[in-house]
Amino acid sequence: QAKALTPPDIAARKGKTPLVCLTAYTTPIARLVDPHCDVVLVGDSVGMVLHGLPSTLGVTLEMMIMHGQAVRRGLERPLMVIDMPFGSYEEGPEQAFRNAARVMTETGSAAVKLEGGEAMAETIRFLTGRGIPVMAHVGLTPQAVNAFGGYRVQGRGEDGERIRRDAIAVAEAGAFGVVLEKVPEPLARRITEELLMPTIGIGASPACDGQILVVDDMLGLFGEFRPKFVKRYAELGETASLAIGTYAQEVRARRFPAAEHVFGDEPKTLSGGEA
Ligand code: KIV
Ligand code: NA
Repeated sequence: QAKALTPPDIAARKGKTPLVCLTAYTTPIARLVDPHCDVVLVGDSVGMVLHGLPSTLGVTLEMMIMHGQAVRRGLERPLMVIDMPFGSYEEGPEQAFRNAARVMTETGSAAVKLEGGEAMAETIRFLTGRGIPVMAHVGLTPQAVNAFGGYRVQGRGEDGERIRRDAIAVAEAGAFGVVLEKVPEPLARRITEELLMPTIGIGASPACDGQILVVDDMLGLFGEFRPKFVKRYAELGETASLAIGTYAQEVRARRFPAAEHVFGDEPKTLSGGEA
């Protein structure tokens, strides 16, 4: 069994081959992404993708811990990172440490991710100085949807300087990587060139040191929103819908279950018998 990647392993990939990152929220998806990914994020997107919430704001620490435990059971090689949910870290460094330590001890994750740039630098320094590796997240930070008034591209024109300062601040505070979400491509490229730590892009740039997508988005399992930055690599939602429709037809027509799905009265005596 290959040794699991660590936050320093990920940091050392700066400027090398791109980091492959996806989200996962369950054990079976963790097993599917495990052989292909460097980083697996238990994102607070779980609230919208699996729990039907209208935004990530309603996600709780307990939800993140439960999904983190499920993902942990399915992962061997990738670094697992868990999102700190809205309200669990913004009050200050002590609150962030207390809750991040709980996430790590209860799930076995080696790192957490939190949203915010300059405003979170002091908290990131506090955590990283006390044994908690932090991945940062700047640009469009979905937990700030109400402050932004929507999910628009962040950092266009003069506003790019704000995002650039955020990225520099979290790097100086000791983050081992930063997610750049929904920012102009030239800005993401420039930040990637300037920083000594890896940038992970989503709606950012192919020049980033890695890419991340929400796994249910790229598999075509979650269709509520179709942001431009999501490439659909499969249409599993359509496949599932067809399968469920066929099942419903067959049940109504009494074509399912068929002979091979039902049990006889006599137990089979030879090997290969029915269970
Ligand atoms: O919650 C999430 O899935 C994320 C990624 C999209 C970066 O934060
Ligand atoms: Na997130």
